[in-house]
Amino acid sequence: MKHTVLSLLLLAVAIPAAYADTPAEIRTQSFKKILRSFEPMGQVVRDRDPYVKATFLKNADTLKAIANEPFAHFPANSITGKSRAKPGIWTQPAKFRQKKTNS
Ligand code: HEM
Repeated sequence: MKHTVLSLLLLAVAIPAAYADTPAEIRTQSFKKILRSFEPMGQVVRDRDPYVKATFLKNADTLKAIANEPFAHFPANSITGKSRAKPGIWTQPAKFRQKKTNS
């Protein structure tokens, strides 16, 4: 019984995350995925965590593979719900393109 309640609770938390369905939710999750590989590397380069070659390489490979993912999810009129995206993304598309390729 205890397990059933716990499982249901976990499902309630997991389902919304797994089924992000607006572009704003999808890109936000995608950015958060980037953060999970980027942040541990940041800790290492700032000497806050030890350098473990295999782990660092794995994070670097992941980052490289997913770095462009969020940018496939910026269609017009997609500032919805909790989006923090600014209108400039769509009113100044050249500037946005430049920023995402320079970073
Ligand atoms: C390593 C690089 C980056 C990391 C780790 C990162 C991380 C994140 C995270 C975690 C969020 C979600 C914030 C929230 O909880 O609401 C976010 C949102 C956002 N990021 Fe980044 N980001 C990166 C690079 C970029 C670049 C290069 C651009 C644009 C040129 C960008 C544009 C945005 C925008 C527009 C949002 C808001 C999306 C929305 O709420 O609709 N990010 N980013």
